[in-house]
Amino acid sequence: MISDTLKTGEGPLHDFDVADATPSTRRFLEEAITQVNIHSRPTIDMHPAKYKERVGLESMIRALEKNSYEFMKVLHNSKRNKVFLVEESKSGERKAAKWFNQAEHYFKEKEAQEILLGYDRHNNILLADRFIDEDRLIISPHAARGNLGELQKKGRLTLPQVEVVAAHVLDALQYLHDHNLIHRDVKLSNIVLDIGVFGLETFQLIDYEFTQYVEFPISKNETEGMVIGTPHYMAPEIYRGKNADLRSDLYAAGVTFYHCLTGHFPFDGATDLELFRNHINKPVPDIRQHNPEMSLAFEEVFYRALAKNPADRYQSAVEFKRTLLEAARRK
Ligand SMILES: Nc1ncnc2c1ncn2[C@@H]1O[C@H](COP(=O)(O)OP(=O)(O)O)[C@@H](O)[C@H]1O
Ligand SMILES: [Mg+2]
Repeated sequence: MISDTLKTGEGPLHDFDVADATPSTRRFLEEAITQVNIHSRPTIDMHPAKYKERVGLESMIRALEKNSYEFMKVLHNSKRNKVFLVEESKSGERKAAKWFNQAEHYFKEKEAQEILLGYDRHNNILLADRFIDEDRLIISPHAARGNLGELQKKGRLTLPQVEVVAAHVLDALQYLHDHNLIHRDVKLSNIVLDIGVFGLETFQLIDYEFTQYVEFPISKNETEGMVIGTPHYMAPEIYRGKNADLRSDLYAAGVTFYHCLTGHFPFDGATDLELFRNHINKPVPDIRQHNPEMSLAFEEVFYRALAKNPADRYQSAVEFKRTLLEAARRK
């Protein structure tokens, strides 16, 4: 069987007898073989840490099978967590299964999602349909078109496309903020695309691990001193360790839309420190430097969205959405 050879690391990968492996395991192996062929030598003779990861993945596949999911492929792989495309054995439905390395992270995401599941569902908020504590797995509907970062890599998005993205993401944020929740990690890879009923594109916000309940979304909350988020999207107040509030989410949304329209981040830096300085000190770039097709109205939209001082920004997602869509119409 496969597992013994994987554990001991003896012999080349193609010597495995996969005849009696489950379809799930076979698919995993096929993927592993492809990866080995692409990224390294075509044998399993590799670093022990790599073996460990392989064996780790295999045990996750067993956990999925135990819970009646068949492994299809790896969608995302990081130290903190892994996301698998799986098929629900009974219904044949495709799901995304997010596995967490640490229980603490699993429970944080579960807790935030459970708060949201207590309210009416929103089209642009993607939530789980099952939590499996024992295996630290969160099972969600699979958004078949992948994340916005992947779409963006295929080329700059057009203005009509970004209008749809912005309308959906800002609707999702307005909904969170109406419920006194801030997301705290709005970015390209946390927005996924699905094709819903009537073939309509629906962008949905995911990844609620950092989502926080705040007593007063605008003024007071308890995030003081906590620097949480993704550096390219973090508003100056977060870098400064000051209160994050709904306007920090809107800043991150501004960075996201800017990136969609231009293929560039408004602020960049060779190091995190330089990036931090630029977010705090550097004037907001004119979007037309990066995309000459943008109108003056758009320059103004981003001056406001990315203002250093939260008081100078849009004060709500709905206001941001209205202004952005008006600017698009005036083009
Ligand atoms: N329900 C889903 N449908 C499709 N892709 C998903 C889904 N959930 C996660 N992904 C993919 O996995 C990636 C990582 O998931 P995410 O929840 O954002 O984890 P992380 O905390 O590591 O950022 C996403 O960027 C997306 O590409
Ligand atoms: Mg994410």
